[in-house]
Amino acid sequence: MAVWSAPGKVFLFGEHAVVYGKPGIAMGIKPRVYVTVRKTRHPPRVKSPYLEMCFEKMGVNGSVYIHSQLPSSSGLGSSAAVTVATLSAINDEFSLGHSRDDIAHLAFQVEKEVQMGRASPTDTYVSTFGGIVLIMGGTKRRLPPQDFHLVIGNTMVSHSTAKMVEQVATFREEDPNIVNPILDAIEAVTLKSMHVFNDHRSLGRYMDINHELLEALGVGHPSLTRLVMAARSAGAYGAKITGAGGGGSMVALCPKRSKSKVAGAIEGCDGKAITTTIDTEGARKESEDDRKHTGKAGR
Ligand code: MEV
Repeated sequence: MAVWSAPGKVFLFGEHAVVYGKPGIAMGIKPRVYVTVRKTRHPPRVKSPYLEMCFEKMGVNGSVYIHSQLPSSSGLGSSAAVTVATLSAINDEFSLGHSRDDIAHLAFQVEKEVQMGRASPTDTYVSTFGGIVLIMGGTKRRLPPQDFHLVIGNTMVSHSTAKMVEQVATFREEDPNIVNPILDAIEAVTLKSMHVFNDHRSLGRYMDINHELLEALGVGHPSLTRLVMAARSAGAYGAKITGAGGGGSMVALCPKRSKSKVAGAIEGCDGKAITTTIDTEGARKESEDDRKHTGKAGR
């Protein structure tokens, strides 16, 4: 039996703009998905295309049990975390000898095939390696870890990343003179933010600007606006949509002392708050003795 876990992620800056080769900054967050894989002669069948594809790609068969701290369809990279942790656990249980880079690559392939060609390489990369990652065109670079105190607000409004990406693409085709300058402005904000990583007040201001630019791109939602406003009023340095928008989640950067007030304000607006910080580990082997993360269910 092998137990592995992998973290979720938030986009701090640059979502949507990264689709057009602009820079983006994403960060691994503490909530994780835990996956137990066992060699079994007769593995039970469960209808999860992600899990089926993980076993198919690795060329083996076994049983799998998932325990997730990440809500699904919330823009926090839960499917990538399931895929990364499952591949890592299969790799370990069957002694296949894949490297971390291989796992990140395979996880992206799995997501792409299951999601009919559309997947975010950022989600699988951040979940595999953790930390803060600068995405620049096709390249990814880990930035020094930061002690960010974050409160995530899940609107509980389900959204489709593919649909939101498509919507921005259509808007850009119809009105390039409007959309391209917005993408350029997001790029400028992302690049500027890297110079003020230690100054959380300024960083929060750039998050606010990035939020307004995402609204201008048309990926806002009234429930996201409510949570962003509530977080700012409760003392956050800044707050913005994280991920594809149109529902899903927002993220607020907070002074440590204001975290619970911000979380309370989000809950008061019918959001589900997650108070979190950076995850620097990425995919991680867990102790097999930890009963909380192991179980009998199969795929
Ligand atoms: C979704 O989490 C982020 C987007 O930029 C899409 C992507 O990067 O693949 C909207």
